[in-house]
This record gives sequence, structure tokens and C-alpha cells, in this order.
Amino acid sequence: MLINHSGDIGPELNQQDNFVSNFLKNLKMKTPTMSELISVAKKQVINEQGLNNILRYLVEKKDAYFIDGNYLHVGLLEQHHNICVQRQRFYKTIIVKTPLDHQDRTVGVRWINNKGGYMQIDVDYSKAINRKYPMPIVIAIAKDQTGKYNPITLGWCMNTSHNPPMIAISIGLRRYSLEVIRHAKEFVLSFPSNSMAKEAFYYGTNSGIDMDKLAKCKINTQPARKVDCVILSDAVANFECKLESEHLTGDHVIFVGRIIASHMNQDEELERLYRLETGYKMGSVKKIL
Ligand SMILES: Cc1cc2nc3c(=O)[nH]c(=O)nc-3n(C[C@H](O)[C@H](O)[C@H](O)COP(=O)(O)O)c2cc1C
Repeated sequence: MLINHSGDIGPELNQQDNFVSNFLKNLKMKTPTMSELISVAKKQVINEQGLNNILRYLVEKKDAYFIDGNYLHVGLLEQHHNICVQRQRFYKTIIVKTPLDHQDRTVGVRWINNKGGYMQIDVDYSKAINRKYPMPIVIAIAKDQTGKYNPITLGWCMNTSHNPPMIAISIGLRRYSLEVIRHAKEFVLSFPSNSMAKEAFYYGTNSGIDMDKLAKCKINTQPARKVDCVILSDAVANFECKLESEHLTGDHVIFVGRIIASHMNQDEELERLYRLETGYKMGSVKKIL
């Protein structure tokens, strides 16, 4: 245990404490990710548990701030603050919630511009990208080699051309649908309505590699007109596409489809289905107009 009741630490731990504190100090206003901290601490033979204790101790001593899961050295913030105030560019506010116990202390720092608005801060990609929700979702369907129609739920979809009408979807390299669409060379893109959340979740969390998703989780379908596939009757709209091209982008493949037939639901009040947040919570988004 690093910290005793009086908050004292032994001499050997003091050294580790100084090391972590100095490391934070030299980061020039960048809050390190936990994995960066862990790998630096490892070099000093400080294990993860030890590192957590040290960081908590630094926060306790007011040597570091704990901000949304990140640690920032207090000295850096003060330094930066003075420069910012001198230049009259922006300043900080620190929100301290009263600690309930040792673990429950929260110190938040907000960077504010000279108009009083929040500024952008550097964060990991994985954190910022979570702010893009809500995101409309689509269901792509294609016929596999055994003759079954395989639906896959997708968030990554965009129009790429009006004339001719083209649309692109991005499919992970490990999805069964990747080989299905390559094999079929055509697919249907269905824009589900908000009553289809259960099915969209099912098609997005089960693979058709060893099952018939449409048979397991039934949905109203009707034959497509120009491609060998089905369209989803309760969707807002359906588009029949011929595979035009594919492009490898990192761990996904973008399929571009040329739309050769379009369908829409006769109920024009139907609302689209959205993925509402980072998990798989789905529903509709309120109309603001
Ligand atoms: C809301 C939601 C959005 C998704 N978006 C995508 C996507 O854009 N691209 C992708 O490859 N997988 C996406 N997935 C994951 C696939 O739908 C999932 O891996 C599916 O089980 C693959 O099915 P398959 O193996 O039959 O192709 C999404 C899943 C959900 C629930």
C-alpha cells in the first residue's frame, strides 16, 4: 500500500512518485493516455497498481489534476494559464467537486476562450469519435453462395453521386457480408424505420456465416425488382444497387453501388432508425423543424 492514513510514503516510493510527477511535468500540456503512462512506469519497475496509487497520491497532494480519466501536472496548467492570461487569449476554470472520500475527488478543467465558450482540447481518436452519434443506420442485403439473403447492419454509408446515383458502404474485413457482396456483385440498401430496432440490432450482432438471419429474426420482405435480392417492406426506403467498385481503406472495404431501382414506403411519416450513442442503443431522433 503506497499511502497510509496520514498520507506519508516511504523513501523508495517517494522516488517513484517523483519520477511520475516529473514525467507528467515534461509533457507540455498533453495529458498522457493511461497506456502511455503504464508503459513509461514499467521502465521504472512500477506496476499498474503502483502507478494508480502514485497518480491518486499526486492528485491528493494537488500535484496533478485528474480530468476525465486523464492526469495533468498542476505546474503545467499554472504555467500555461499565466501565458494565456498575459496574452488575453483564454483562461481556465477549475471545477472541484467536494470529495466524498479519497477515491471520489473530481477535478475538472475547462479551457474557455475570451468569449466565454469552451475550446477544443486534444484527446485520443477513440474519445472524440464517440461524439458523432446519433448516426443513421442502414441494412445491406445480398445473396450468398448458398442462396440465402444475408442482411448486415451498417453505420458507415454515404451518397457519392447524384448522376448517376451512387452510394457507398464500408464493410469490415472480417464480416461475412464482405465475401457475400463480392460474390453477388449486387446488393440492396435498406434505410430502416424506427420500428425496426430489434431486427437491426440482431443483424448487426450476429453473423450470417453459419445461420440464416432473415429466418431467425423475421422481417417483412418483398422481392427486389432488378437484382436477385429482397427489399425490406417496413423500411423508409430501399435501393437496389449493382456493385460498381471496391476500395480497401485500412480494416474496411468501401463498396460503391450504382443505384438501379429505388423504393419508398407509402407512409411518408415514417421516421428513420438511428444509432443513438456509442453502444448499440437505437431509436429515432426528434424532429426539430
Ligand atoms: C448499429 C450498428 C452499426 C454497424 N456498422 C457497421 C459498419 O458500418 N460496418 C461494418 O463492417 N460493420 C458494422 N456493424 C457490425 C456488423 O453489422 C456485424 O459485425 C454483423 O454481425 C456482421 O454480419 P455478417 O458477418 O453476416 O456480415 C454494425 C453493427 C451495428 C449494430
